[in-house]
Amino acid sequence: MTANGTLRNTTKDTLREVLTRLQTEGAALGHFNVADHVLLKAVIAAASETRLPVFVGASEGEREFFGARQLAALVKSLRQESDVPVFLNADHTHSLAKAVEAANAGFDSVGVDFSALPFEQNVARTKETVQAIKAINPAILAEGEIGDIGTGSEIHESAQADFSKLTTPEEARQFVEATGIDILAPSVGNRHGMLKSMVEGKAKKHLDLERIAQIKRAAAVFLTLHGGSGTDDEHFSKAIGSGINIIHINTELRVAWRESLAASLARDSNEVVPYKILRPVVDSVKQVVSARLRLFHGESVRPSAVGTVA
Ligand code: G3H
Ligand code: ZN
Repeated sequence: MTANGTLRNTTKDTLREVLTRLQTEGAALGHFNVADHVLLKAVIAAASETRLPVFVGASEGEREFFGARQLAALVKSLRQESDVPVFLNADHTHSLAKAVEAANAGFDSVGVDFSALPFEQNVARTKETVQAIKAINPAILAEGEIGDIGTGSEIHESAQADFSKLTTPEEARQFVEATGIDILAPSVGNRHGMLKSMVEGKAKKHLDLERIAQIKRAAAVFLTLHGGSGTDDEHFSKAIGSGINIIHINTELRVAWRESLAASLARDSNEVVPYKILRPVVDSVKQVVSARLRLFHGESVRPSAVGTVA
């Protein structure tokens, strides 16, 4: 499906069905992190504006701030009123207890993340967690991570450590086979967060596209690309062609949230009505999400729409 195509999704589609369909259509599901209701409203508004399915994500920190059960209840309610599929992911989950909490709360997927551990321990902890969440809800999709993609959806002063821990196709094959995950998040040149030069639109992240294609062939599962903020548009499109099914964007939303909030507060120092202050923030974040969604579904986007996220 493209942004201009006929809408065939219904809110009854499962995450697996939507991912399968998008894969055949050469598109990827956009995953956007939320920490508050303003961000959630913006993501849902973008899905509705573009008429494209969307994946709402929340990391452990974001879930702690929002409330995992409260976020799940809100998404459930928004999904009932939405005419496009809306899914919810427990992003970067570092413990069995937090994965179980998300599965019980009704999340559609859990991003199990023991990637900081040595490979064998990562395999063992991921496998145990996958079994536990599938016992709660067999339909839940489990993601596993290997390799180093850095930490922090933030603005980084300088480039983080090197890319020495890129995922190899053989590691990917072994990891999928041993853990039973449905989705693999590899390290393919992607990094969490943005450099200042990226926020200013002067630099872009580039991906190892050949490695993505090799990993896809070896792993034969859905692939997630983390650390999407600041990535070159053409690399996004080629990464989807090479086998990426889900793309995570967080820092770009956070930058738009902060800059538009600052501008909104500065506009009138006597304004105290929250919904008047926050409405432009929702709009600003929505523009970033809509532009990314359109790109992930094959629509070319004006450079100004995503170049600088201010
Ligand atoms: O899980 C969240 C993401 O991987 C977001 O990364 O902040 O670089 O867009 P980002
Ligand atoms: Zn991530």
